[in-house]
Amino acid sequence: MAKKTTATKATPAKAPARQETMTLIDNRNGKQVTYPILKGTVGPEVVDIRKFYADTGLFTYDPGYGSTGSCTSTITYIDGEAGVLEYRGYPIEQLAEKSHFLEVAYLIINGDLPNARQQAEFEDSITHHTMLHEQMQFFFRGFRRDSHPMAVMCGVVGALSAFYHDHMDFSKPEDQMIAAHRLISKMPTIAAYAYKYSQGQPFIYPRNTMNYTENFLHMVFATPCEDYKVSPVLAKALDRLFILHADHEQNASTSTVRIAGSSGANPFACISAGVASLWGPAHGGANEAVIAMLTEIGDKKRIPEYVKKAKDKNDPFRLMGFGHRVYKNYDPRAKLIRQTCYEVLEEVGIKKEPLLELAMALEKVAIEDDYFIEHKLYPNVDFYSGIIYRAMGFPPPMFTALFAIARTVGWIAQWEEMLTDPETRIGRPRQRFAGPTTRNYVAMKKRK
Ligand code: CMC
Repeated sequence: MAKKTTATKATPAKAPARQETMTLIDNRNGKQVTYPILKGTVGPEVVDIRKFYADTGLFTYDPGYGSTGSCTSTITYIDGEAGVLEYRGYPIEQLAEKSHFLEVAYLIINGDLPNARQQAEFEDSITHHTMLHEQMQFFFRGFRRDSHPMAVMCGVVGALSAFYHDHMDFSKPEDQMIAAHRLISKMPTIAAYAYKYSQGQPFIYPRNTMNYTENFLHMVFATPCEDYKVSPVLAKALDRLFILHADHEQNASTSTVRIAGSSGANPFACISAGVASLWGPAHGGANEAVIAMLTEIGDKKRIPEYVKKAKDKNDPFRLMGFGHRVYKNYDPRAKLIRQTCYEVLEEVGIKKEPLLELAMALEKVAIEDDYFIEHKLYPNVDFYSGIIYRAMGFPPPMFTALFAIARTVGWIAQWEEMLTDPETRIGRPRQRFAGPTTRNYVAMKKRK
């Protein structure tokens, strides 16, 4: 039988893709400068202006970094116009429905979903790092009982570097991993201890027989006097909230972690800086602020008054839990959180939650209002989360601490990505100086 031959066609050598560029003209002197345009896998391309100052003697000016890409990342993708959020390519809706927090944590940190062995090893490691050095309890006891949990967390998370300095060579992947696992494991314990301390109750040690979220709820709500059974419905709901908060690309706290880490600071110090940044009401502190706002509004009749205040440029009031730098559409996390609200309220036996009804009425008025439509302001992740946390029994000051537990996964993944990126340099923006020019020192007796 004749042998079947395959004709080999010479494939023409592929011409290298032409580098796309952008040319800018300085109208003061006609000088042209050209910069490469870099593509990502999806999303807006970026102009590489790293040589801009050397070429022109000018800085770019972008307060709030609305047009600035600060790094290359492979972790989280957001399409703010379409309301899309993906971790490592997986849509947030699928992860919220099908996954669980520690699987998502593995995914965010390692880049792919784990196989069964990898998942078991990861969970085992996280479970066995949950205890805090016993000496650390005295650190908590140094705080006032009425301290805000985020104040306690800023201090205690930073203090981890004083207790765990045995693997601090962060050029080694092993040391990076140990720090990552320690932080993910110990954040719930720190947040729970901050709560217990504020209540004047004894600390409850972690339990290795429970999963991550159950163990956290147990450390918060159990007491040594009686058995506390963690509700699987509440544990599942909180786990989903943790998934939704796990990462959000280069937001304020993540950028803070990256900038802190770019100087070579240790990860405990960097994450403590992230906690501080998250605490602000324009960022993670908004979940606490939403409940304060809804409580102040108090009645549906007063919604128009508050919507009017939010639109008034002479009034600093803003609708908390509304608006986002990136989402110009409904925040996909807010949608999922609103659904979870009902499950939690049913589980805890709340038939009618006036704050939820008020929040939904406020959302309706706001999203139909011309100002909110024109400004593309929609509910964000913080709008409904506080209602769930409250129904679970957390006091409002704990809300941002819950956010911090989940976001630690994103912070640590972004910190590791920064460390291993050969393009990383110390984060050091410049400025437009508008202060006084050189002047001579004036002796006190000659000053007016
Ligand atoms: N209520 C009323 N007006 C608003 C609001 C709001 N919540 N948010 C933005 N605007 C207006 C703002 O006044 C401005 O109007 P104009 O262009 O006419 O001057 C315009 O919208 C753009 O606002 P911006 O402050 O330049 O937008 P930004 O991207 O710098 O800020 C934000 C984003 C989230 C800080 C802001 O929307 C805000 O303060 N929201 C309330 C706080 C909040 O809910 N934060 C949680 C954010 S999501 C989770 C997280 O990051 O942790």
